[in-house]
Amino acid sequence: MSGSCCSNPGLHRLTMTSLDGDAIRAGVGELAASRLAGFEAFAEIDSTNSYLMHSEAPAIGAIRVALTDNQTAGRGRHGRTWQSPAGSGLCLSVAYTFGRQPRDLAALTLALGLGVAETLDGLGAEGVQLKWPNDLMADDSKLGGILTEAQAPSRGAITVVTGIGINLDLREGRLDSGLGRKVIDLERFAGEPLERNKLAARLIDGICETFVTYETSGFEAFAARWPRRDWLLGRGLTISLAQEQLTGVGAGVAEDGALLVDTGSGAFSRVTSGTIVSTAFARAAP
Ligand code: BTN
Repeated sequence: MSGSCCSNPGLHRLTMTSLDGDAIRAGVGELAASRLAGFEAFAEIDSTNSYLMHSEAPAIGAIRVALTDNQTAGRGRHGRTWQSPAGSGLCLSVAYTFGRQPRDLAALTLALGLGVAETLDGLGAEGVQLKWPNDLMADDSKLGGILTEAQAPSRGAITVVTGIGINLDLREGRLDSGLGRKVIDLERFAGEPLERNKLAARLIDGICETFVTYETSGFEAFAARWPRRDWLLGRGLTISLAQEQLTGVGAGVAEDGALLVDTGSGAFSRVTSGTIVSTAFARAAP
């Protein structure tokens, strides 16, 4: 994939930073390479998740990858948009077909988030946290997000498309997302630009590994790794549920990945689906 150059200095910069599909494909590790049923790098696309959701599903146990750094109609959770103008972020989607629906499918995004954070650790961007269920947080600001969607099951098999959006270079460093939430990019967080093709290849490896482990073990294999990444732990929060709002303090996740909220009533409330609408104080240092 290559950007074209013209008199726009921004585009010139894009030419130097855009993704190289061949290099990424050649850079993936053994596991992902052995399961790769499709790989497409786009100079521009509306949404890599939409693309894979409308593409032929990979065979059971195989992955299909679509990526870009220029997404024009990116989607986030709950119908929100995900903005990623040319060169500003990595947009990576991976489709995987499970032979049958795995245990705790709703918590797959949490496991994928752990894989992404650990991949970033390995590349020097250490300490990314996760805001249940799908936000990647760095320096208390949003670094990226994950959108997991499932295609209709066919003969028991189920194909999941997971899309990761990571802010790479927002140029102004830290912007207001317009929703009153701070955002950050990887360049500022890591203190230097990361090699984008290597980043994409390692993320594909991590995502593939997560899918394969999840298939046999569900969230159980990941639960112990959650607490140290849990950005909501000990924070005051208000979460919007289908019919009501719940206010309390983040108290970790259950074995199946449900968010636990201490509402002060003596028992923790379990939340399996909802949107965090506000957070308050940070937890005290341990
Ligand atoms: C969120 O924060 O709500 C999730 C954002 C997910 C964005 C990624 S970018 C790659 C993939 N394609 C999309 O349209 N969305 C996901």
